[in-house]
Amino acid sequence: MRDDLHQLAGRGPFRAITEFVNRRIFNELAFRPEDQFVDIGCGHGLLLRMAMDSGVRSAVGLNATDEEVRPLRALGLDVRQGRTDSIPLPDGCASVVACNSVLLLVPEDKMSKSLREIARICKPNARIWLGEIPRVEEITSVPRHESVPTGNIHQDGRGCWAAG
Ligand SMILES: C[S@@+](CC[C@H](N)C(=O)[O-])C[C@H]1O[C@@H](n2cnc3c(N)ncnc32)[C@H](O)[C@@H]1O
Repeated sequence: MRDDLHQLAGRGPFRAITEFVNRRIFNELAFRPEDQFVDIGCGHGLLLRMAMDSGVRSAVGLNATDEEVRPLRALGLDVRQGRTDSIPLPDGCASVVACNSVLLLVPEDKMSKSLREIARICKPNARIWLGEIPRVEEITSVPRHESVPTGNIHQDGRGCWAAG
């Protein structure tokens, strides 16, 4: 089941990379018990589960399609259908937001609205993770921006992934 969700989220067979990246994001976000977490484009829900297991106050995920939402809800996760440019959540509801490897799928003309929507749902001083994952082998069926770099991925001195 989880393998299917991983495929459905456009992650292909790269499970180890997904787990490595989500663990890294989890560590960076340093969840606290009072946190209200929103994971925009939560994929197969790994980061959402990590946040819930850490004991946050709430953890809500969004995915683009009902097809992706239904199996996650069946696993007991609070996942809703919603797009970056029209987030179905109230103003100021999130103390922590993640949007990882999602904006590279968003059409350019929806980017400004998407960034405004992310800002809208944040509480003051919210912690925000906006991440893209450059991959050597990009799945050709997934739309992407010309600006997403290609080439060999490596870790820079600060531990961030970069393409070169
Ligand atoms: C490559 S997966 C990333 C999953 C997860 N964030 C991670 O890093 O493992 C992309 C996810 O973004 C979601 N997605 C794609 N376009 C979206 C949009 N416009 N708004 C919200 N989610 C979107 C898809 O449903 C998919 O689950």
